[in-house]
Amino acid sequence: MTVRLGLLGAGRIGRVHAGAIAATPGAKLVAVADAVASAAETIAAETGAEVRDIAGIMGASDVDGVLITTPTDMHAAMIEEAARAGKAIFCEKPIDLDVNRVRACLQVVADTGAKLMVGFNRRFDPNFIELRRQIDEGAIGAVEMVSITSRDPAPPGPDYIKRSGGLFRDMTIHDFDMARFLLAEEPVSLFASASVLVDPAIAALGDFDSASVILTTASGKICQISNSRRATYGYDQRIEVHGAKGLVSAENLRATTVEVANADGYRREPLLNFFMTRYTAAYRNEIAHFVAAVEAGGPISPSGEDGLKALLLADAATLSAREQRVINLA
Ligand SMILES: NC(=O)c1ccc[n+]([C@@H]2O[C@H](COP(=O)([O-])OP(=O)(O)OC[C@H]3O[C@@H](n4cnc5c(N)ncnc54)[C@H](O)[C@@H]3O)[C@@H](O)[C@H]2O)c1
Repeated sequence: MTVRLGLLGAGRIGRVHAGAIAATPGAKLVAVADAVASAAETIAAETGAEVRDIAGIMGASDVDGVLITTPTDMHAAMIEEAARAGKAIFCEKPIDLDVNRVRACLQVVADTGAKLMVGFNRRFDPNFIELRRQIDEGAIGAVEMVSITSRDPAPPGPDYIKRSGGLFRDMTIHDFDMARFLLAEEPVSLFASASVLVDPAIAALGDFDSASVILTTASGKICQISNSRRATYGYDQRIEVHGAKGLVSAENLRATTVEVANADGYRREPLLNFFMTRYTAAYRNEIAHFVAAVEAGGPISPSGEDGLKALLLADAATLSAREQRVINLA
């Protein structure tokens, strides 16, 4: 069977997913829609898909599933429309910035029986998959402490920040999902400390660009997350998990492993610069997982519920940072 897909949104991440679909056996990008015709036309020319409008994809009988890669404030309505149209749905994170809107949307998904997967791509990164496999196989014994470092190479512009929902809902939300994925236990308390150390324009918009978050589970497992909107050396994505019997960690990726040593010291390439290159394999695995789940039927993960839980942690972190207090999540 070929799973026939429609792409709603041909921006940065839409282009990445179009490439992932092309690399997935058993998947075909049938149609692409974007408010900017040239954006849709470029992907259509590269993939052989047709350019259609959103209604033309939602209502199409030759489309089994849709990928929603439009700006965040359009996701919930599009999920509902696609669910009612009987499509399988892959939606980029976050589902919405408002938890009540997310809950209403997930109700429609439940009522229609639609299949919804949320784009927490890091669960599909080969390094993090192996890290999780080592944990599951008992290589480090019981997990005790998780450390997640996640720094973007440079802050986005003010227009992006204004629509982003803030650092925790836009950026840390990926780390909250990874924390839940690795702890295998829900956090019961959270403390976040956040500052503006990178760009004063971000402070003017009421947001933060640097943050540390500590999550604690009922059994006492601790996860610390370190975020910055700036890293001069590239996209800094590392995870370390400490357990009763040892440590498992995943390091940063570079374009090559070449190292030059001379009288000035040791020099290696900078880190892969941003998500499009750092997580190429993760996005491909993610789309392959979606396609396989559409083909096989049954439940899909990460689910809408995972999207809601990560957003609840992001909301708690926003409150914690603003009020400088521990938030009881239980
Ligand atoms: N999982 C990840 O790693 C990841 C990475 C980047 C972005 N994202 C998420 O993906 C979403 C899109 O982000 P992006 O960076 O690709 O944004 P973007 O601005 O590059 O792309 C969005 C696209 O949607 C189109 N669009 C806007 N309004 C539209 C409308 N009414 N009808 C049709 N098309 C419309 C725009 O023209 C644009 O091409 C956001 O929710 C973001 O949080 C996730």
